[in-house]
Amino acid sequence: NKVVLAYSGGLDTSVIAKWLQETYDCEVVTFTADIGQGEEVEPARAKAEALGIKEIYIDDLREEFVRDFVFPMFRANTIYEGEYLLGTSIARPLIAKRLIEIANETGADAISHGATGKGNDQVRFELGAYALKPGIQVIAPWREWDLNSREKLMKYCETHEIPVDFSSSKKKSPYSMDANLLHISYEGGNLEDPWWEAEEDMWRWSVSPEQAPDEPTYITIEYEKGDPVALNGERQSPATLLENLNKIGGANGIGRLDIVENRYVGMKSRGCYETPGGTILLSAHRAIESLTLDREVAHLKDELMPRYAKIIYNGYWWSPERKMLQAAIDASQDVVNGEVRLKLYKGSVSVVGRRSEDSLFDERIATFEDDAGAYDQKDAEGFIKLNALRMRIAAGKGREYL
Ligand code: ARG
Ligand code: SIN
Repeated sequence: NKVVLAYSGGLDTSVIAKWLQETYDCEVVTFTADIGQGEEVEPARAKAEALGIKEIYIDDLREEFVRDFVFPMFRANTIYEGEYLLGTSIARPLIAKRLIEIANETGADAISHGATGKGNDQVRFELGAYALKPGIQVIAPWREWDLNSREKLMKYCETHEIPVDFSSSKKKSPYSMDANLLHISYEGGNLEDPWWEAEEDMWRWSVSPEQAPDEPTYITIEYEKGDPVALNGERQSPATLLENLNKIGGANGIGRLDIVENRYVGMKSRGCYETPGGTILLSAHRAIESLTLDREVAHLKDELMPRYAKIIYNGYWWSPERKMLQAAIDASQDVVNGEVRLKLYKGSVSVVGRRSEDSLFDERIATFEDDAGAYDQKDAEGFIKLNALRMRIAAGKGREYL
C-alpha cells in the first residue's frame, strides 16, 4: 500500500513521512506545492530523498490557485464572519484535488496531511478527498500519535536520524503560520490570549499603517467578467497581479486583521492575517459591481455571500451546493467589466473612481440639474402612495407604529 502525503519539507511533515513508513509499513509519495507561500519548494526534493522517498511531486500551482480558486471566490465578495478573507480555506480544496490526482497516478490508496485534529484544515482536506475519490483512505497522524509537542518531534527526528536542518530553519516563528498568494496567517503562541496585542515584528507582509508612506499611492485595476485582468493599464496573469497587489498593499499598511473566529469543529480561535492584495480586490470588485450590476442581482449576491463563505470556510468547496452557488454568482459577472481607481493610504483603501462600458449609471436620469424630460418626477407620487397603501389602511384602522 501507498500513501500520498502533503509535504511541506518542514519538521512536522518530515516526521510524518518517517512515521507513516514505520507505522503503516507503506510507501510514501510526497507532494509539495508552490502556491505562493514565498518559500522555495525545490529543497523539499532533497529532504524527501533523504527520507527514502522514491516518488516525489513538486508542482507550481500558483496560477491555478489564483485563477480557479481565489478569483471565483472573489466574484462573490466573499468574507467569513464579516472579516476573514478565507486565505487558508480557499487553498485547501486545491491541495485536496492534487493529492487525489497523484493518488490516482501512483496507484496510492491513501492520503495523509499534517493538520491537527482540532482545526478546520483536516476537515477541508478530507472532505475534498472523499468528494473526489469516495474510497480513499485518510491518515491524519496528529489524531493518532502522541508526538504532541515540538520537543517530542525533535526527539523523534534524532532517534530516527531524520535530517532536519534546525539551525537554518530561518527565524523560527513562535506562531503556527500558513501562507499562500492570498494571505499569511498567524495562530497560537501569545495569540492564544485574545487580549494580547500582536507584536509589530510578527507581521511579515505589511508595514504598520503608522509606518506607511505619507503620500498616497493611486492604482487602477481593470476587470473583465468579474475578474481583475490588468493593473495600472498593464495586463497581468492572475498570480502576477495578486502578487503585485500584495506588494503595493503591504507597503501601504493594508490588509492586517486580528480576529476571533468560529472554527467548524466548534471552538473559537484567535488568528491574525495579512491579506493586502485581497483587501484591495474586495473594494475594487464591489466598486465595479456598483456601477454595472442590477440592484436586485447585487442584493441577492450579498444575501448569498455569507452562505457561500461558510461553505468554503467549512471545507465544502467540492460540493453540489458550492457548485450551484458558483453558477449563480458567475452568471451575474458577464457585465462586470471596466476600471476602478483606488487610493491606498496608511492602511486604508478608498475607491476614488470607476468607469465601464457596461455601466448602468445614467447621468441624464441621476442629475440634480435639468434632465430634459429623462425622468418624470410626477411618477414618484403614485410610486410612494401605493407603497404606503398598507400602512395607510392599517393606520386608518387605528394601528399605531410609534
Ligand atoms: N483559521 C484559519 C482558517 O481556518 C487559518 C488556518 C491556518 N492553518 C494553518 N495550518 N496554520 O482558515
Ligand atoms: C491545524 O489545526 O492544523 C491548523 C488550524 C486549522 O486547521 O484550523
